[in-house]
This record gives sequence, structure tokens and C-alpha cells, in this order.
Amino acid sequence: MAEILPLESAFESALELLAAGQVVILPTETVYGLAADATNGEAVARIFETKGRPHFNPLIAHVSSLEMAQSLAEFDDVSLELAKHFWPGPLTLILPLKAGHNVHPLATAGLETVALRHPQGFSSELIEALGRPVSMPSANSSGKITATTALAANNDLGTKVKLIVDGGQTPVGVESTIVKVDEQGVRILRPGGVTAEQIEAVIGDAVLRGGVAGIEAPGMLLSHYAPNARVRLNAETVNSDEALLAFGSETISGAEQAVSVLNLSPSGNLREAAANLYQHLQALDRSSASCIVVAPVPMDGLGEAINDRLQRAAAPREN
Ligand code: TXA
Ligand code: MG
Repeated sequence: MAEILPLESAFESALELLAAGQVVILPTETVYGLAADATNGEAVARIFETKGRPHFNPLIAHVSSLEMAQSLAEFDDVSLELAKHFWPGPLTLILPLKAGHNVHPLATAGLETVALRHPQGFSSELIEALGRPVSMPSANSSGKITATTALAANNDLGTKVKLIVDGGQTPVGVESTIVKVDEQGVRILRPGGVTAEQIEAVIGDAVLRGGVAGIEAPGMLLSHYAPNARVRLNAETVNSDEALLAFGSETISGAEQAVSVLNLSPSGNLREAAANLYQHLQALDRSSASCIVVAPVPMDGLGEAINDRLQRAAAPREN
């Protein structure tokens, strides 16, 4: 069983485990991450094993400074501007690997690009002390709901890791925005904690959306973030054997007879809704409802990331 330590007393133990090639669950400002030394192949292999994640899916290398990032990858001018503006924070940049970098090929799935992110707070300080990049996918079994609390991470992976660092509920609540700059412009590969509008304000241009040929990311697989119950979106009514994930003050007919009702944000605040998303999905999944029905969530701002995750949670499952 994992030991769960509060932030204040976890630093040395977490550092020791990372340095020894072990995996540790850490809070970041977006979601909890399953961390390991990105330069150590065995350590990276433990991440894939712990999550049950397919090996062809590359991991984000987390850094503690722009300087560390620039030792790993070649920055074009626009990516550099975005890094300077949004780091440390919920932005991941896909960049060409630089000669002499030390990221293990297992962490990049053998690609010639690397995903880089400089997170805020505890995990960044830990990476700085380690002095090496840290691979850190979300701390959940592959395909399952992302953990935004230490308890959720413990319920999913607690038997498979030695240490979970408890930093409370993660403030952003959805994963980082993944961006790649190409000849056509700035492309959002995965919507997340930095909104399209925020990026557009920095680059002075419209962002592009959608994946590029040849790279398929697991967060981009159709079925992901899946609860055990079925999920139905944009619901106008809810039945008595169903649970309701509400948003805002609009009433959904049948809500009073639902198995359980949780509201992402009664006041209709998308920031609050993003922070509550995964926890509410998990809670409703425990209610034994046959289906979680979800009220419409607007598409602007963080609504894009929220709707992206909800669509994947509702997608047909392969197994
Ligand atoms: O907020 C976050 O990004 C969290 C926290 C822990 O930092 N991490 C996270 O990692 O969401 P993960 O592994 O769950 O999602 C990373 C995504 C995957 O969809 C992966 O396929 C994609 O990034 N990715 C990694 N390297 C890539 C590359 N070179 N090109 C395209 N996509 C890449
Ligand atoms: Mg994930």
C-alpha cells in the first residue's frame, strides 16, 4: 500500500524514490501525475507497467526551467514565446528533440519530438532538486478517470506505488493544453488548462485544432477517461435509474428522481467546473447508476477542454 504524505513532509522521500528509479504520485496544478526519472529507462518502464499504458504512447517530460527545456529540445520563436508566457503552467509544447538530450527513448516512444511542460509548485521544485526531467502521465490506470485528489489516485493505483504526495485537490482540474507549432500555425492537439482564447491573445492569430498525421495520443483516443457507467451528453431529461452531472442553474427534467445529482458549477463558472469534473464523474460512478447523464456545458474558454473529456468519457468502449 502507498504511503500518503502531505506536501510539507514529502519532499525528501519523493526525491529519494525518484533518484532511485521508482515511481511516485505527485500533485501538479492540473491533475495528479505518476512521476519517474525521464532519463532512466527502467523507471520509465515502471510508469507504463503501473498504468497499464500501451508503450507506443509517449509521455510528457516535465522540467523545472526554460533552461532545462532548451537543453532537451529545439525551440522555434513562437514556442519560445508561448513557454515564456505560460510556464510554469498548464501548457505542453511538442518540439523536436535536440542532439545530446537525455530523455530515454521509451519516454518519447521513439519519436523525434518530445512533449515538454514546466509545472507549478511542488513537482517543479522536486524536478529542480533531481536535476533531470521527469516523465509524468496522469495518475490513473490507462483509459480510466484522471485523479485530481490523492484519494482518487490511491483508489486507482495505491497498491502499485510506494508514495503518494497529497497536495489537496488540484486547482485546474483538467490536463495541460498540448500545442504544436508547425508551418501552418499554432495547433492545439489537446484542449486543456490554457484556453484557445489565451493562446490567441499571445500569438495574435487564430489557433488550429486537431491532430496531425502520424501522431496519435492516448488522450486523443476516442474512448478515454471512462467511468464504469455509460455516459450520455447534452441531456434534457434524466431517468430514475440514472445519475445527473449538472451545470449551472438550468433544471433538467426528472432531476428530482435521479439516483444522484452533482453540479459542476451551480453558478455556471467554467473554471470551477473544470476543477470539479473528474471528481464528480468518479463520485457519480460510485452511485451505481446505469448511466451518467450530463447537462450541456458551453464551449467557450475551459468549456472546450471539459467537453473534450466528456465526449471521450461517453465514446463507445472497445473493451
Ligand atoms: O496536465 C498534464 O499534462 C498531466 C500532468 C500530470 O502534467 N499529464 C498528462 O500526461 O496529461 P498524459 O500522459 O496523460 O498525457 C500526455 C499526452 C498524451 O496524450 C501523449 O500521447 C501526448 O501527450 N504526447 C506525448 N508526447 C507527444 C509527442 N511527441 N507528440 C504528440 N503527442 C505527445
Ligand atoms: Mg491521461
